[in-house]
Amino acid sequence: MEYLEIEGGKPLCGQVRIQGSKNAALPILSAAILNRGRTVLHHCPRIQDVKEMCKILSELGCRIGWEGDSLWIQADTLDSFVISKYHAEKMRSSITLLGSLLGRLGQACIPYPGGCVIGERPIDLHLKGLEKMGVQVKRTEEQVEAQSTGIQGARIFLSFPSVGATENLLLAAVLAQGTTWIEGAAREPEILELCRFLEAMGACIEGAGESCIRVMGVKELHDAEYTIASDRIVAGTYLMAAAACGGEAALLQAPLSHMQEILPVLRGMGASFTIEPDMLVIRAPERCRRVENLHTAPYPGFATDMQSPLLAALCRAEGTSRLTENVFEARFKIVEELQAMGAQIHVENNTAVVQGVSQLQGCNVEAKELRGGAALCIAAASARGTSRIYGCQYIFRGYEDIIGDLKSLGIVIQ
Ligand code: EPZ
Repeated sequence: MEYLEIEGGKPLCGQVRIQGSKNAALPILSAAILNRGRTVLHHCPRIQDVKEMCKILSELGCRIGWEGDSLWIQADTLDSFVISKYHAEKMRSSITLLGSLLGRLGQACIPYPGGCVIGERPIDLHLKGLEKMGVQVKRTEEQVEAQSTGIQGARIFLSFPSVGATENLLLAAVLAQGTTWIEGAAREPEILELCRFLEAMGACIEGAGESCIRVMGVKELHDAEYTIASDRIVAGTYLMAAAACGGEAALLQAPLSHMQEILPVLRGMGASFTIEPDMLVIRAPERCRRVENLHTAPYPGFATDMQSPLLAALCRAEGTSRLTENVFEARFKIVEELQAMGAQIHVENNTAVVQGVSQLQGCNVEAKELRGGAALCIAAASARGTSRIYGCQYIFRGYEDIIGDLKSLGIVIQ
């Protein structure tokens, strides 16, 4: 089994350029098939999930290729609406092809999405919304079969601001007949990115990034070129590494406007920041302060994807922290791994209670999902001695170059 080996215990010192956003790139790749022409995406992260999405688009008949860190998609040759189970089960984002295939071809056959073990991850909100738009949805044992003779704009209310459901409804609405209102929409920066990309292709959208989004259907979309924003979760991961290890780190091209809920938490932990136009510098004490009581929530709340990296940083904090996970029902899988490193953590329902210790000990641990794997790298970097992180293929799903990035921050990793 592949593993990363980290020699921990040293403060951070270095700088890193932040990659393009995984959770913006994936729905944008799905959206690209709505245009019967050419799309060029700059600053697209070369991560495993993007490679999987490219394979799916090729399987559907698109031509796709890289020029540097720009990805071009030629979608005029799209000739299928069926996605293979092999690819679909590899990640969650395959489900957003439901909306874009319906928008383009009026049909879609998609196996149920895979994704991390962080929760059951149903798609009821996706399907209920699409049915409101006149889509016939059939759920078999294996897959979702959807078709429509003409998608109608509708007024849809999401009982939970699901990111994926908001994305699917946007993708179905941009070429629909009439206007669609998505009330209770997700407000994550990745939704704003998707809307900006759709507008670059000629879509007509109001209220992007707010909780009510209005989409006026258009007849067709056109070629577009788009630069994907940097990944706020990757940037946040490296800030948490600084909080865990102490020292100084400079982040180049960090998406500051998308990180407004993360910086105050880090300041409360004793970190300070220097903010320049294209660089965010964090300075952190050798041992950070605890976080008394924090809850994850849909944006603009504290991001659920930042919960594991923060948990890792709190293991050595001074004092006892309480971290409550409100978005996914099984997102504390790394607790036992952190305990193996000497962390004093216990979980009460959906709250992790962390009593900070002065030192963690390096040891062999196993990642079981993406952000938990990144969090184990943070804990290993702050621990004394050597750690091996098995299951590192989960980390490669979302981090373009975790080894190079952590090395450039002064962490001994291979
Ligand atoms: C997206 O997942 C992200 N993935 C996740 O990032 C992120 O954690 C999540 O949004 C929340 O911000 C991508 O963008 C590819 P949701 P998604 O639909 O769309 C429930 C990472 O590490 N729900 O907002 O699946 C669901 O069970 C990944 O990069 C329903 O009940 O998130 C969950 O509890 C992990 N019914 C909650 O909503 C539905 O129909 C949030 O799910 C849909 C969702």
